Amino acid sequence: MSTEALRGECILVVDDEPTNLKLLDRMLRGQGYQNLVLVEDPRKVVDLYRTIHPDLILLDINMPHLDGYQVMEQLKALNDPLLPPIVILTAQHSKDYLLRALAGGARDFIGKPFDRNELLMRVRNLLDAQLAHRLVHSQKVVLEKMVRARTEELRRTRLQVVQRLGMAAEYRDEETGNHILRMSHICALIARAIGWSEEGCDLILNASPMHDIGKISIPDAIMLKPEKFEPHEWEIMKTHAVIGGKLLDGDDSDLMRMAREIALTHHEKWDGSGYPNGLAGEAIPLAGRIAALADVFDALTSVRPYKQAWTVEAAVNMIKENSDKHFDPQLVEVFLRELPGIVAIRERFAEPAM
Ligand SMILES: [Fe+2]
Ligand SMILES: [Fe+2]
Repeated sequence: MSTEALRGECILVVDDEPTNLKLLDRMLRGQGYQNLVLVEDPRKVVDLYRTIHPDLILLDINMPHLDGYQVMEQLKALNDPLLPPIVILTAQHSKDYLLRALAGGARDFIGKPFDRNELLMRVRNLLDAQLAHRLVHSQKVVLEKMVRARTEELRRTRLQVVQRLGMAAEYRDEETGNHILRMSHICALIARAIGWSEEGCDLILNASPMHDIGKISIPDAIMLKPEKFEPHEWEIMKTHAVIGGKLLDGDDSDLMRMAREIALTHHEKWDGSGYPNGLAGEAIPLAGRIAALADVFDALTSVRPYKQAWTVEAAVNMIKENSDKHFDPQLVEVFLRELPGIVAIRERFAEPAM
């Protein structure tokens, strides 16, 4: 790259000796570098650095107030990924001295008295390197931005798909749309109360609406039957858990994995008497245990074609009685403690008046 192209690059020169500054200024300007900032007082370097963001720093070591090592320390502490190369200006050539400067962050040395050709070549090489570094860095920033945007797009698409799936299930179900809303918000509330992260609560909020997605495969004659099921009909109804699990299988996103887990295990019971796999206790995934509690509570307190809505009190009593049987007893405790918030969710997503 010719020096022509580098003329706009900013070079910061720090030396307490005005004659040295003048000399360097003349040599660099003579070569076409116009953007030079000359500093006698090393205490000004950091503030100046923040405003001018130089592409190269030429730094004297022996200076009053702050020596070159201290200036390098201050610059390093800024943690700027684009910190430019620092070239030490020195009359010293001892190995220890040079090693200390290198360890402190110097990239190169220029001996005093300055050799014009050597100075210009080192300056040009280091400016080229810094230019390349800047380019790579800005590409990295652009790529990271792109990856973030794509990831967000993917997340949104997934969310859309699962929400639509949840809606599809509602069309087949006797349960109303608001059941899904109430149930998923109660899940998130319980998850928060047991210390799940915001991310986890969000996940269960979005994953739990698909708990009954498997019902899309259950025949109308069973789905819409207002009377009690015959045993064989009941067996068919129970298949919705496994079918839901299968429908949601095969995607390894956290959202889909949790949705699958909930669809498959929301009818398991703490004492092992649930379906489809008769899992017991903590063998039932926590998300499934939370969903079971939220689902049953809301189903009990809602009107269904085959039953009246229970009062909150009656539903709470049933849940208490079934702690340790149907439900995880620790979750029941949390549920009871959080009851005011749960009742508020019921009111917030109440069924519209007919
Ligand atoms: Fe279900
Ligand atoms: Fe449900």
